[in-house]
Amino acid sequence: MGFYGTAVLPRLVDATGGSRALDPLRRRVCAGLAGDVVEIGFGSGLNVAFYPAAVARVAAVEPAEVGWELAGKRLRATSIPVQWSALDGQSLPFPDDSYDAALSTWTLCTIPDVAAALRELRRVLRPGGTLHFVEHGLAPDERVRRWQRRLEPVQKRVFGGCHLTRPVVDLLTTAGFTITELDVFYEKGTPKCGGADSLGIALSP
Ligand SMILES: C[S@@+](CC[C@H](N)C(=O)[O-])C[C@H]1O[C@@H](n2cnc3c(N)ncnc32)[C@H](O)[C@@H]1O
Repeated sequence: MGFYGTAVLPRLVDATGGSRALDPLRRRVCAGLAGDVVEIGFGSGLNVAFYPAAVARVAAVEPAEVGWELAGKRLRATSIPVQWSALDGQSLPFPDDSYDAALSTWTLCTIPDVAAALRELRRVLRPGGTLHFVEHGLAPDERVRRWQRRLEPVQKRVFGGCHLTRPVVDLLTTAGFTITELDVFYEKGTPKCGGADSLGIALSP
């Protein structure tokens, strides 16, 4: 990854993802997290302020060093221990069944082998553990999908491999998760192509 990917992109993600308009979605997706939690695509820690008090500790998985640096002020403001624990969600250095819950916010779009990342989350979550997710992906409407297919090559170049057309719910169920809560909607204030969100909870059997 060049200068753009290592230095510019994490700041761009921090600025766009830090919009206050997303706070209600971050609050909703983090609600109910408890115990030992693994967060993939931790970025600059924009979810930290929304971790419930029942969270015992968080293992942050994030390849971008600049993201971790930008998270500093958020980490100092929380009493929940957060440790930068791994670089790649596709291969997690954790034992089987070692986490109570997992968190992924607008990350499954970017991980190159998303099926591998979901397999890894299944492996490290204990039976009955939950994946809390809010992800943008393939839109419910064909008209929007057409634009997503047209714009995806540009999106991938500008946003570090971010896909617009990943079918979030299908990916989760194919990986063996059972969806127990789901809300599908267009994000307010975001073009529909990049704002077709799925927010919910997926259970690891
Ligand atoms: C669009 S950003 C979302 C960041 C953060 N979750 C948020 O809600 O603002 C996607 C994140 O996934 C991270 N990422 C990319 N490839 C990854 C991988 N293989 N494993 C884990 N995280 C990855 C990126 O560095 C980036 O921080």
